[in-house]
Amino acid sequence: MAEKQKASAIEKVISAEEISKEFKEHSVAEFFKKNMQMLGLTGKIKTLTTIVHEYVTNSLDACEEARILPDIEVQIEELGDGYYEITVKDNGPGLTKETVGKALGQLLAGTKFHRMMQMRGQQGIGASGCTMLSQITTGKPVKVITGTGKNKPMSLEISIDPKINQPKISNLVELNKEFKGLAVKARFKGVKYVKSEQAPLEYLRRTAIANPHAKIKFIAPDKSTTNFDRSAKDIPSKPVEMKPHPKGVTVDEIISLSRYTDSRQTSSFLKTEFDRMGDKALEEIRKNVSFDLRKDPKQLSWDEAEEIVKMFKKMNFIAPRTDGLRPIGEDRINKSLQSIVQPEYLSVVTRRPQVYSGGFPFQVEVSIAFGGNAGRGNEEQNQKTKEQEGGETNVFEPERKIEVMRFANRAPLLFDSGGCAITKAVQSIDWKRYGIKDLENAPLTIFVNLISVHIPYTSAGKQAISDEEEIMEELRLALMDSGRKTGIYISGKKREQEKQMKREIFYKYIPEIAFALNKLTKENEGKLRKNLEKLVLEKLRLEEEAEEKVKEEIEETMEKTKKNEKKRKKKTEAEEEN
Ligand SMILES: Nc1ncnc2c1ncn2[C@@H]1O[C@H](COP(=O)(O)OP(=O)(O)OP(=O)(O)O)[C@@H](O)[C@H]1O
Ligand SMILES: [Mg+2]
Repeated sequence: MAEKQKASAIEKVISAEEISKEFKEHSVAEFFKKNMQMLGLTGKIKTLTTIVHEYVTNSLDACEEARILPDIEVQIEELGDGYYEITVKDNGPGLTKETVGKALGQLLAGTKFHRMMQMRGQQGIGASGCTMLSQITTGKPVKVITGTGKNKPMSLEISIDPKINQPKISNLVELNKEFKGLAVKARFKGVKYVKSEQAPLEYLRRTAIANPHAKIKFIAPDKSTTNFDRSAKDIPSKPVEMKPHPKGVTVDEIISLSRYTDSRQTSSFLKTEFDRMGDKALEEIRKNVSFDLRKDPKQLSWDEAEEIVKMFKKMNFIAPRTDGLRPIGEDRINKSLQSIVQPEYLSVVTRRPQVYSGGFPFQVEVSIAFGGNAGRGNEEQNQKTKEQEGGETNVFEPERKIEVMRFANRAPLLFDSGGCAITKAVQSIDWKRYGIKDLENAPLTIFVNLISVHIPYTSAGKQAISDEEEIMEELRLALMDSGRKTGIYISGKKREQEKQMKREIFYKYIPEIAFALNKLTKENEGKLRKNLEKLVLEKLRLEEEAEEKVKEEIEETMEKTKKNEKKRKKKTEAEEEN
């Protein structure tokens, strides 16, 4: 018996040779085909919005690079239950016959992944991921029309061979009509169109807010059309390709870059591959490292690269180049939010560019819109009393709720808000300090745009930003600055309301007091009333004067801060020119 058991245990042992028969290589397309959720293509509503997001961000990126004012049309048609056709048409540069297949039918192919440049897309899997989803849910290829303006426009169909991650092109025909740009028509099953905060229409509304230079037309499944016209007519200047800044670079990055450089010596490698590396900085490194900087960079060891990083950390460098980053700009944000959100008060704050680990420059733009149509409708709160809450004057219109609009390189982020640095930063602020007692139910639209040559997304789905220390710090500072300004406005408004209430109470009792005084003193009642009114006015005037003084002091401090900031900016610009 024991012998038998021993034998069967031996039988169960499988050799490495046998296991190795199961060994297979897979293409990246096969991987994503099995893991579409990693691309944000999961959930019926989320998938539809993500598809619109992928095509629209591509159109905006392409137009920006080609210096074209974007004119984008998005149409969603319902073909059956959970079965939709999405068409996105732009007036951009189009794609050539050579690149169109790879662009839409090969994963990890594109013009952005390898360039340190502020763009909405950065991975090379957005549009091709959509082609894959269309293929696996409907069995249909994606229809494309492309026109570059040079040759005749072409119409073609694209699908992906997942085994080899290569595009398959069919039905290619030249068209005898004028067309410049790219039009993609794709069908999807298992998706759903709704009108919610996470739906395509809201996505496009936010895209319009952050891209006031774009004209966007949306045709919904019920054929209703929404037009977002441009409120800015000038094309934002083109983002510039940038190099990593020494302050944020890691040892691994130095090693990776050194393996592909054309430079023959470490000194020239450092000078050409990194931002802000001048002769002076190079000399300082030369003096302090244990090896010769004439060394072939391809031979740099981990320890040597570590010595360079240590030096980078110790040395002073000019702040990273800002000319590659393209903020929306305070004026544009202001105009855009005024026209789309129509708030009662708006403050916009743009922070100076910084670097996060990896040497990636980034910048934060924040705006807080208060009152008016800021925030989103809140039916529940609507039922509550409007004027008074807890005995205190309520300065908020109670039927609105807070709305946090997150953007990365001007592209709206509608999903995975809990895991996003922007949400975490908003939640980490003590809003009570700025007169906002109940953040959730405040009529506020908090707009945050993070721009960078590389947004540290938490996943390939590109919906949440990772909470890098430096990014969190900048987000918090911008939110606090904007919060402070909003707080000053809110407290002013609250004071104004309290003053009005006081005035009303005083005036209400003047006739009664005059009547009583007349009984006691026999003075003329009309005269008494006039004198009492004078007294009230005098008291209110004195209060106003005191408030005015405080206001002037605050403004003076703010003016001084602004001047100092300007001086600092000028100094840095002068240093940059040198
Ligand atoms: N509308 C368009 N006009 C011109 N070129 C486009 C357009 N859409 C896509 N492309 C090209 O196709 C490439 C691949 O697009 P895709 O969306 O797959 O990746 P990406 O935009 O580079 O990065 P991401 O995966 O982050 O979206 C882009 O890099 C771009 O070069
Ligand atoms: Mg893309």
